[in-house]
Amino acid sequence: MVHSATLWSILLVATCSLLAVVESREVVCYYGSWAAGRTGYATFTPDDINPSLCTQLNYAFLDIESNGTLKNGFNTNTIAKFNDLKKKNPALKTLAAVGGWNAGKSFKTVAANAQLRTTFAKNAVAFLQKYRFDGMDIDWEYPAQADMANFVLFLKELANAFAPYKYLLTVAVPGPETATSVAYDARAISSIVSFINLMTYDMQGDFGVARHHAALYPGSAAVDDTYFKRQLNAEACVKFWINKGAQASKLTLGVPFYGRSYKLANPKMDGVGVPVTGPAAARPYTAEAGTMAYHEMCTSVGYKRQYDSVQGAAIVSGNGEWVSYDSVQSITQKCNLISQYGLGGGMVWAIDLDDITGACGPKFVLLTALNNCVNVNTSGATTTTAKPGAATTVKAVTSAPGTFVCTRDGYFRDPSNCGKYYRCLSGYKYEFNCPSGLYFSEANTACDYPANVKC
Ligand SMILES: *[C@@H]1O[C@H](CO)[C@@H](O)[C@H](O)[C@H]1NC(C)=O
Ligand SMILES: *[C@@H]1O[C@H](CO)[C@@H](O)[C@H](O)[C@H]1NC(C)=O
Repeated sequence: MVHSATLWSILLVATCSLLAVVESREVVCYYGSWAAGRTGYATFTPDDINPSLCTQLNYAFLDIESNGTLKNGFNTNTIAKFNDLKKKNPALKTLAAVGGWNAGKSFKTVAANAQLRTTFAKNAVAFLQKYRFDGMDIDWEYPAQADMANFVLFLKELANAFAPYKYLLTVAVPGPETATSVAYDARAISSIVSFINLMTYDMQGDFGVARHHAALYPGSAAVDDTYFKRQLNAEACVKFWINKGAQASKLTLGVPFYGRSYKLANPKMDGVGVPVTGPAAARPYTAEAGTMAYHEMCTSVGYKRQYDSVQGAAIVSGNGEWVSYDSVQSITQKCNLISQYGLGGGMVWAIDLDDITGACGPKFVLLTALNNCVNVNTSGATTTTAKPGAATTVKAVTSAPGTFVCTRDGYFRDPSNCGKYYRCLSGYKYEFNCPSGLYFSEANTACDYPANVKC
C-alpha cells in the first residue's frame, strides 16, 4: 500500500509539474474543402495550405446520417492530401469537422438514442483511423434546448471512444448569448472536450443598419442601444461562455477571414449604424451576397479604408457598399483579448479566404498576424493550457538571444541546450524553454523526460 501510494505521488507530482508550466496557444484553422473547386486564383487545395501556420487544421465539412454513419461522398484524395500536411509539420493536428450550416441535420436523431450514439462513436473512430485524422470537431448548427442533455451524452460517448487513441474532440458553438445559446451546458461540454471554438462572427444582427459582424467590443450607446445588441461582440461572448461555466483555456476566439457587406442607403453616409438597404452584391469567388473574402476585398481598388478603434474592427466602403472585416490591426487587438482572458487561442474561418496569393502584401497576412501575436503576448494570461501531444511552451520572445538561426519553418532544439527549443515561423524565431528537467524531443515536438529523448 505504502509503496503504491508513493508511486502515485511521484506520478502525480511529475504530471502536475508538466501541466503547470505548459502555456501554448492554439491556432485553429478551418479549411472549406469546397475552396478546391473555386475558379482562377481562388482555387485552394490542401497543397496550398501552409501547415506551419496552424496547430489544428479542421477539414470542413463531413455530414452525419441518421443511422449513425458518416455520409459518403467526401473526396478521399483531398482528405489524403490534407492529412499529408502532417509530414511537413509533425506538430499539426488534423480534425474532421462534422456538420456546418448545410449539414448535421441528423445530429438530433443520433444524439437522442443511446445505440445510435455508440454506433456513431464507433464509426467516427474507424473513419479517423482510416483517413489518418487526429480528431473530430462537432459543428452541430444548432442544437435546441431540448437537445441539451443529449448533446452532452453524445460528446461523452465520443470522448470515451476517442480516449484510447488520444484523438482530439472539439466543438464549434455560437459566440453570443442568443436564442441558440440556451442549448449548451457549457460546464459539462467544457469538461469533456479539448477545445470549444467560439464562432464570434456573423454577429451583425438584422437591424437595417451597417453593423460590424465580428467586433471586439460593443459600440456606442447609439449603435448598441439594447442588451441584445451589446452581446454581439467578441468580449461579451468570451465573458458569456466563461460565466456559463466554460474553462477559459479551452475557448478559442473565432476570427473571420471574410467581411460582411451591405448596400448603403446613402453612399455619402458610411459610418457604423448608418441605414442600409440589404446585403451587397456577391463577389466572383465567394459567390454569396453580403460576403466578401479578405482576398476579394483587399484587391478592390478605389475603396476607402477606416479602422474603428472603439469596436476594434476594420471597414472598407465605396461604390455604395460598406464592409466590416478583420484586418491585421483588429487581429492584433483580438490577441490582447485572448491573452487578457487566458483563452486557449484563436480560430479562423477560413484559411482559404486570407490573401492566399499575396496579391495585397505578404501571403497569408491575416493568419501570419494571428500566429505572430497569439503566443507572444502572455502578459495578461493567468490560466495555463495543457494540450495533449502538442508542443509546449513557457514563454515566447520575438528577438531571442543566442546563435540559433532559423533556416526553415518548424520546431528545433537548441544545439547546445537540450531543454531549449525554437519555433521558426515565416522568418520569425520564438524561443522556448522546456519545464525544468525535461528535454525537447524533435521527433514528438514536445518536452519529454530525458530518458525518452536522444540528445
Ligand atoms: C446509413 O444510411 C445511409 C443513408 O440512407 C445509407 O446510404 C447507408 O447505407 C446506411 N448505412 C448503414 C450501415 O445502415
Ligand atoms: C499585452 O496584453 C496586455 C493585457 O491584455 C496589454 O495591456 C498589452 O498592451 C499587450 N501588449 C502588446 C505588446 O500587445
